[in-house]
Amino acid sequence: MGRGVGLRFAGGAEVLADTHFEVAQGEFVSLLGPSGCGKSTLLRIIAGLIPATSGEVTVGGIEPALSRQTYHPLAFVFQDPTLLPWRTVRDNIRLPLELQGVPYAAQMAAVEASLPLIGLTSEDARKRPRSLSGGMRMRVSLARALVTDPQILLMDEPFAALDDVLRQQLNEELVELRANKLRENKPWTCLFVTHNVAEAAFMADRIFLMRAKPGSIAETIEVPFPQPRTAELRESVEYARFVGQVSRRLREVMAR
Ligand SMILES: Nc1ncnc2c1ncn2[C@@H]1O[C@H](COP(=O)(O)OP(=O)(O)OP(=O)(O)O)[C@@H](O)[C@H]1O
Ligand SMILES: [Mg+2]
Repeated sequence: MGRGVGLRFAGGAEVLADTHFEVAQGEFVSLLGPSGCGKSTLLRIIAGLIPATSGEVTVGGIEPALSRQTYHPLAFVFQDPTLLPWRTVRDNIRLPLELQGVPYAAQMAAVEASLPLIGLTSEDARKRPRSLSGGMRMRVSLARALVTDPQILLMDEPFAALDDVLRQQLNEELVELRANKLRENKPWTCLFVTHNVAEAAFMADRIFLMRAKPGSIAETIEVPFPQPRTAELRESVEYARFVGQVSRRLREVMAR
């Protein structure tokens, strides 16, 4: 997927250099690394929002921007829910379909189908973002990403602003949604940026540890627990030990 990828913003220092990575279709990869190491930048390159300035990135064998528009519909979930305050929840969720020119009735049907997936009711859908809690807003943002039925899901610290209980709940829901998609034979390929090692370990098949200055993927770690994972995993000794080991590796990578 990425070979020798580098990026330098005009007039700026090198943000990413000689980064190599491969993500299989249907795989869930978490990116961990120090602030400023280029995690968001890497997601933006994969999304085709900015071009790499060296090396090569491909999604499904073709250029990211082309891939997104053709074979591999992609959705991006940002750290901030970025909802439009003047639109209702329903109208926020259907926005990407509206932008794609999908007929109104089909937009509404897709929204109705996406609501229960992320635990929203029709009642919630009539509200404006202002009257929702942070967790609910994040659910709406997730629904807006899922409504397009993406194959590739790029998530940039989506749950960073949530309390731990809510974060864990959404982690479990995401694992379950992913398992459902797999059952429907429509696997998601996920890249999930987080600063939370436990969150990465709970959801991901593999973890990429990134180093900074310049940013690159220093190490990849296989997560040894079978999917789909459930809340019980968090209480196992193996999980606690694994989270501890990944944290230590991350500290070592950051100290290098
Ligand atoms: N548009 C831009 N122009 C110039 N420099 C930029 C631009 N966007 C990001 N950078 C720089 O690139 C580096 C990597 O930024 P990026 O946002 O990818 O880091 P990150 O790993 O996502 O950090 P965080 O964990 O804090 O979100 C930073 O030093 C940042 O200042
Ligand atoms: Mg970032």
